[in-house]
Amino acid sequence: MWNERYASDEYIYGTEPNSFLLQNAKALSGPVLSIAEGEGRNAVFLASLGLEVTGVDGSEVGLAKAQNLAKAKGVKISTVVSDLATFEPAPECYSSVISIFAHLPSDLRKVLYPRLERSLRPGGIVLLESYSEAQLARATGGPKDVDMLMSKAKIEKEFSNYEILLLKECEREVNEGSFHSGLASVVQFIGRRKASL
Ligand SMILES: C[S@@+](CC[C@H](N)C(=O)[O-])C[C@H]1O[C@@H](n2cnc3c(N)ncnc32)[C@H](O)[C@@H]1O
Repeated sequence: MWNERYASDEYIYGTEPNSFLLQNAKALSGPVLSIAEGEGRNAVFLASLGLEVTGVDGSEVGLAKAQNLAKAKGVKISTVVSDLATFEPAPECYSSVISIFAHLPSDLRKVLYPRLERSLRPGGIVLLESYSEAQLARATGGPKDVDMLMSKAKIEKEFSNYEILLLKECEREVNEGSFHSGLASVVQFIGRRKASL
């Protein structure tokens, strides 16, 4: 499905970074892992700030476009084609993990999130923006499956080993490509991994 969606030359989520990431990039340090990186807009942005970034995604078509974007912008990124259900990053190798519009089923999150937690160094940061459950009522983007949409309660439960630095559900104009366009309901989260798990 994602390879088909990414098949055209157009960057369907644009080439500019996610705006929540743009506003909060100062909270991040490298190396950064970006899950569900897609066509590369966020990894390329972080690389342009001088951060070492690895983007992982199940779509090789998306990640090929990510590498083309990096080349066009004169930066280097690493990319890994992998299903997040089986992706196992090494322990304590990242200082930050970002998850931008990575809408995943709860059974996958249950496996993946503890692995991400272990891949972070103590004090490492996770930054996430996702459509919220309230987005189900809107036609401005995101999956039509409540299980894949987030809420503050889900974040608190699934990221319980983090100090919450920012957590809110809000409405904002999202203009990040043709599939993410218009007033949207989102969850935004920044957390710091506790020193011991
Ligand atoms: C809505 S796009 C967001 C892309 C990017 N984060 C952005 O904001 O531009 C969701 C991405 O999640 C990836 N994805 C979804 N399920 C996945 C899975 N199980 N394993 C790996 N990638 C997955 C898709 O390939 C797609 O690139």
